[in-house]
Amino acid sequence: MSDSELISSKSRILDLFAELDDSELNSIEQWICSQSYKKDLEAKKTLIRTDKLLTKTGDAIKKLVPFEAEMSSEKIVPPTVGDQADCTESNTCHVDEFLYDHDQVDTLVKEGKLKRHYCIDCNSRNVKELIYISHSMSRQALQYIFKVLLPSDLEDKQILDVGSRLGAVLYGAYYLSNASSIIGIEMNKEFCEVQEKIIHKFSMDADRIRVIHSDVMERPDIVQQSNVIIINVLDFFVDIPKHKEMWHFFKKHIKKGSYLICNRSMADTLNSLDMFEELMNWLSICIPNQMKNEIFFDVEDCSELYLYTVN
Ligand SMILES: C[S@@+](CC[C@H](N)C(=O)[O-])C[C@H]1O[C@@H](n2cnc3c(N)ncnc32)[C@H](O)[C@@H]1O
Repeated sequence: MSDSELISSKSRILDLFAELDDSELNSIEQWICSQSYKKDLEAKKTLIRTDKLLTKTGDAIKKLVPFEAEMSSEKIVPPTVGDQADCTESNTCHVDEFLYDHDQVDTLVKEGKLKRHYCIDCNSRNVKELIYISHSMSRQALQYIFKVLLPSDLEDKQILDVGSRLGAVLYGAYYLSNASSIIGIEMNKEFCEVQEKIIHKFSMDADRIRVIHSDVMERPDIVQQSNVIIINVLDFFVDIPKHKEMWHFFKKHIKKGSYLICNRSMADTLNSLDMFEELMNWLSICIPNQMKNEIFFDVEDCSELYLYTVN
């Protein structure tokens, strides 16, 4: 590092320090002097390395799917209940967060490939912000799931992603955990083919990670064997009766003590389906297993991720 680069690094650190009060500065000083920051730094570098691997898988997927990451063979319908019931065909833009993070979305907007607004009465400046919906988890959400929410040791454990789509959760589990079995069940055949191609392209261990083309309700055996079940919001993909049926199915088949991870609170999901009373005692909310790693995250960005255990 040259002298001027060193000065510029120091200046950036000072900018940060200038925002802290005395007691915060003291804590930072202790953290650095105790050398424990070195362990945190190593962990941070490992996270950056896995982030690059996940970015590479995302870039490979972009070549296999349309820009919107939706297939003509699927039926995506805006939900009529719940917190996404305000979405319509005209006010909603589907942007996959695993493929395009915030910075990439900004670039796409600058290049005019994505719009943030829609006109609510033509030719006027009376525009409204589009609702951006992602059908995959972001890389940051995946890191938070495996480095903060779940226990660090998942050896001999099976992770199931319900509706694995592009496979984002599977690749996250593969690179960020030591789980011995990682399974995705996806009802859309084309997406299963995409996941298989990616698993093959990146030479992932087929004994550890696999995709099953099926309706999850046809595979109670897999659900029963799984120790961690991850369910991203399904509202755009199933109608209300099917959605209710799925939760009854999960209650029947997910074994006691398993972890369930959702990206919306179960209270909200079950209330919108009018089944909260019926299922409220099934789950308990858990505190994260690796709280010390919260240091690596903007926790507010991950506040929509919930960890439960099955009672
Ligand atoms: C919101 S996406 C989740 C993608 C992925 N789990 C993630 O978080 O990145 C939901 C996926 O679930 C699939 N799906 C919906 N109902 C299903 C069912 N009953 N069985 C299997 N897959 C289902 C849909 O085809 C869709 O690809």
